[in-house]
Amino acid sequence: MVEWTDFERSTIQDVFSKIDAASIGHQALARCLVVYPWTQRYFANFGNLYNASAIIGNAKVAAHGLTVVRGLETAVKNMDSIKANFTELSVLHSEKLKVDPDNFKLLADCITIVIAASLGTSFTAEIQATLQKFMSVVVSALGKQYY
Ligand code: HEM
Repeated sequence: MVEWTDFERSTIQDVFSKIDAASIGHQALARCLVVYPWTQRYFANFGNLYNASAIIGNAKVAAHGLTVVRGLETAVKNMDSIKANFTELSVLHSEKLKVDPDNFKLLADCITIVIAASLGTSFTAEIQATLQKFMSVVVSALGKQYY
């Protein structure tokens, strides 16, 4: 089981209380689709993903980005049982959506980058380390049903 220090717990709560979930989710998913274009194949029903401006202007990308952050918020509320909480989501991504699990890390990195840009200088190295630990627990939980 993952151990969290008091600093890590309060940092994660603090980061997620400060960010605008809709904006962060939208920008992070759009960034993932632009930087790693092969991830677009899973969103074939989202319509026009032709180029960066089509992706950022796509309402389905915006809506789904928020869904992803809402998913992360459930992990924030249940930091001691992230794996158990994400079992269903992991089954969905592996068995139904057939998402290559390598992509979880790529989206997690985009989320980290977008949060860093949004928090600016208050996003210290310690906060980055904590957020990256949290995101790697999420990535591992999402990948759990693949093995
Ligand atoms: C940080 C990592 C991720 C989180 C927290 C996450 C979370 C979620 C959530 C909460 C849903 C909605 C599930 C439902 O409707 O019951 C979802 C659906 C979905 N996810 Fe993920 N996801 C992640 C990574 C990815 C990646 C990397 C891809 C593909 C490259 C992906 C592709 C999809 C697709 C295609 C759907 C269904 C979308 C739709 O048609 O509405 N996810 N994800």
